[in-house]
Amino acid sequence: MATLTEEERNTLIALANEARRRAYAPYSQYPVGAALRTRSGRIYTGCNIENAAYPHCICAERVAIFKAVSDGEREIEAIAVVTPNGGTPCGGCRQVMAEFGLDTIVLIAHPDGRLLQQTTVRDLLPGAFTPKDLER
Ligand code: THU
Repeated sequence: MATLTEEERNTLIALANEARRRAYAPYSQYPVGAALRTRSGRIYTGCNIENAAYPHCICAERVAIFKAVSDGEREIEAIAVVTPNGGTPCGGCRQVMAEFGLDTIVLIAHPDGRLLQQTTVRDLLPGAFTPKDLER
């Protein structure tokens, strides 16, 4: 299982915060940023992108994860998420995270850079339905 130094944590949080500035959230006014590190050491960021047709909004976490996966990176060691008020990843994003590893470290931070919570996907989504459940 991956571990993170304080410096690595702060770097991911700073990158998530930077991505948050690019959020397109005119409807909710709730900008979110995410930054993840893959096992190979690459970093991907994402922000939420909303749409006038509301169901087509996408969360910051999923943007970052889909960018990584579309680049061939499927092992996510850690993801930092910065929300305006310490809000935690939605259920849909927890499920998408679970697809790529239950041991992924999840950092939830405040826009001022403070780490509010360090947890894992396993803890955020107990009893997750994963690719293993499709084995017969
Ligand atoms: N949102 C995220 O991007 N990530 C989260 O963890 C929670 C919610 C976005 C979706 C929507 O654009 C806005 O925040 C309000 O729900």
